[in-house]
Amino acid sequence: MINGKHHVIITGTGHAVPTRVLSNLDLEQMVDTSDEWIRTRTGILRRRIADEHTATSDLATEAGRLALADAGVSPDELDLIIVATITPDMLFPSTSCLVQKNLGAWGAACYDLSAGCSGLIYGLDMAVRSIVSGGYRRALVIGADCVSKITNFQDRTTCVLFGDGAGACLVEAADKAGVLASYLGADGSGWDKLLLRGGGSRHPASAATLAAGWHYIEMCGNDVFKFAVRIMVEASLKVLADAGLEPGDIDLFIPHQANIRIIESAAQRLNLKEDQVYINVDEYGNTSAASIGIALDEAVRSGRIKGGDRILLVGFGAGLTWGAMIIEWVDKA
Ligand code: COA
Repeated sequence: MINGKHHVIITGTGHAVPTRVLSNLDLEQMVDTSDEWIRTRTGILRRRIADEHTATSDLATEAGRLALADAGVSPDELDLIIVATITPDMLFPSTSCLVQKNLGAWGAACYDLSAGCSGLIYGLDMAVRSIVSGGYRRALVIGADCVSKITNFQDRTTCVLFGDGAGACLVEAADKAGVLASYLGADGSGWDKLLLRGGGSRHPASAATLAAGWHYIEMCGNDVFKFAVRIMVEASLKVLADAGLEPGDIDLFIPHQANIRIIESAAQRLNLKEDQVYINVDEYGNTSAASIGIALDEAVRSGRIKGGDRILLVGFGAGLTWGAMIIEWVDKA
């Protein structure tokens, strides 16, 4: 368990999203859906979509650069780069190596991790523990996804939900404690609830996998919905208990932005007030591993988070996976 004595703080944040906006009205022209259905069932109004020349590493690099600038740290001071993604530029090499090259962070070890929409919290947890163990001093953690690249824009049950983006955090050893508690979990028995079936070693890409549409995301929406509400509450209560806090002690709750109904149900069960909850799913849709990082960066830059605030991050995603973290925000000196 991580507790307040371990001295790891987030010193910089950044995010990047593509410029192209895809609105609900645009989607009405593409599939049998309506702005009203999407708004009421998901809370999403629009999302950003990468163009054909943009890949996950491009957005990840931009977000990472902004987080480094925010912290006033240069790329050659990095010990570790973790990119959490389910849409790497290619199966290998890792997207984190491409980010390292783009940034010129030649002293950093690099790896990707696949934890779906829990990716940023998984990455933060790994970075925190790497720093706590004394191995590293500075880690750049980036959650980045271009889900549009694996979306079937003829499938109305998935194409209305997702958007592209990247969110980054610079994590550093410090003499003040920032991360108060962190908890990760997984349940691989739910592997088939949210997946990309083709293109791996089980079903290598072929004419048959293409014809079957196995290069597109598949999802059991209702099952994921029920899992999401339950696990967000359980994971949040677990880290709150670990940190010795109550929901009322939290200044800002930043949940994974998948669906406004999931967020509201979880917030209600945790007895959180409206002004304790950060929401931007209306603007970006579900940006997968990027979502919590984008929200955190927006909240910091808009002044919604101040020094001393206690932030609760919680996510869930493919795997199935989940993660929660409580951070006491430390302003830059
Ligand atoms: N436009 C219009 N109708 C749609 C639609 C769309 N985009 N997508 C589905 N429908 C239809 C369905 O076909 C169904 O029609 P039917 O009753 O005639 O069969 C009806 O709407 C209701 O579908 P249902 O799946 O029960 O809707 P829902 O209220 O559960 O909402 C989701 C569907 C996907 C929005 C919701 O289940 C969800 O958000 N799940 C979690 C998904 C998620 O977060 N995934 C990522 C996890 S990281």
